[in-house]
Amino acid sequence: MRFVKSERPHSHDIAINKRRLLRDLNAVSRIGIGNHGSVTRLVFSIKELRSRQFLIHQMRQIGLQIHIDRIGNIFGKLDGHNAKTPALLVGSHLDTVLHGGKFDGTMGVIAALEAVRTLREQKFTLESPVEVVCFVGEESSRFGYSTLGSSLVAGEVHAKDLAYAADAQGTKLADILASMGIYRNNLRSMRRDPSTMKAYLELHIEQGPILEAKKKPIGIVTSIAAPTRFRVVFTGQADHSGTTPMEMRKDALVAASELIVAVEEICRRYSHMAKGRVVGTVGAMKIEPGVINAIPGKAELSVDIRSITADAKRRVARLVHARIREIARRRKIRAETLPLREEDPVPLDRRLIRLLQECCESRNIAYEIMPSGAGHDAMQMAKVTPAAMLFIPSRRGISHSPLEWSEPEDICLGAQLLLDSIIRIGNETT
Ligand code: GLV
Ligand code: MN
Ligand code: MN
Repeated sequence: MRFVKSERPHSHDIAINKRRLLRDLNAVSRIGIGNHGSVTRLVFSIKELRSRQFLIHQMRQIGLQIHIDRIGNIFGKLDGHNAKTPALLVGSHLDTVLHGGKFDGTMGVIAALEAVRTLREQKFTLESPVEVVCFVGEESSRFGYSTLGSSLVAGEVHAKDLAYAADAQGTKLADILASMGIYRNNLRSMRRDPSTMKAYLELHIEQGPILEAKKKPIGIVTSIAAPTRFRVVFTGQADHSGTTPMEMRKDALVAASELIVAVEEICRRYSHMAKGRVVGTVGAMKIEPGVINAIPGKAELSVDIRSITADAKRRVARLVHARIREIARRRKIRAETLPLREEDPVPLDRRLIRLLQECCESRNIAYEIMPSGAGHDAMQMAKVTPAAMLFIPSRRGISHSPLEWSEPEDICLGAQLLLDSIIRIGNETT
């Protein structure tokens, strides 16, 4: 797509309403609030549905044209001068991890809402339509499957990736999708026609320590690290913990423990920037029978390996798989690997990156050009439309935790820049 600069003025006088932005952010944070200020809105939970309802209500009040697709992704459209031109999509997600923070995803959705509300209020009509978007199920905490809603919109959900996606209670993601009329054979029917989209913008908290360390209020994202994820099931023999001699045991949990240490050791070897900055985590585990007086017969664990460099990530995954086989052979137990998802790192749009730089420069705001270690809906949207992301600092780099925090001043600045860039992109004629 070729963009030509428009003659329409882009205005610096149009300012978001900071109080309203922070008020709405607080209102959403109260949905699913728990101990120590944690927030839990797992995908398809009542709390997550309530947060989506809140957004729909706000969109109605502004008078946006609302469209909700089969999975529950919400699109609230503000028309442009030219209703027939492709829309600029702006948003993020409202679901959270288990015991997460207030800002991951939510800030991006509410900032997009505030930006569009400001345009509406000021009767500032752009050339193209703008859509505030809330994607369903960005977080993988429940099913081990991330960016669900945006992956469907991008046509990137494949039946093979759903085979082992299930929550801790055993509920299969595929069954939930089926209950919404989404089956193996119509997964791609939810793909949105790329010709209806001009670009995708997402404002998000950094979730890492770089901006704080460099004392920069804004990050502009170059690329997004992608995960390789799988579950490993070690099956040994459950047995009596008092009568079974040590040399006769087939302890699945001890095998799993070896693997946990191996994931750390292998990833450390590849954690340097020069080696691909690979990170790896075992974040969930289930043990059976899970009692004090029985040898664990079964241990199932999740492995999440990520990098900005596809090659390094693949190399690490191969080493981890080799170690799984070696542990099972040596301990004479069974190991099964269940693939969840394998994705490549995603570069964001270079022209939009330049445009975001110009937006920062015209307000004299210092910015950092940086990759994202966390996953985002933008990584899926980038496959169907030019996509770009803005980051704001996270205190001590902490996220996916109740300690997640971003300063109100930074949130407001991020939202203002989001509005500036919406005006710039929305007024470009294609
Ligand atoms: C999303 O938050 C992720 O897990 O990167
Ligand atoms: Mn997250
Ligand atoms: Mn997020």
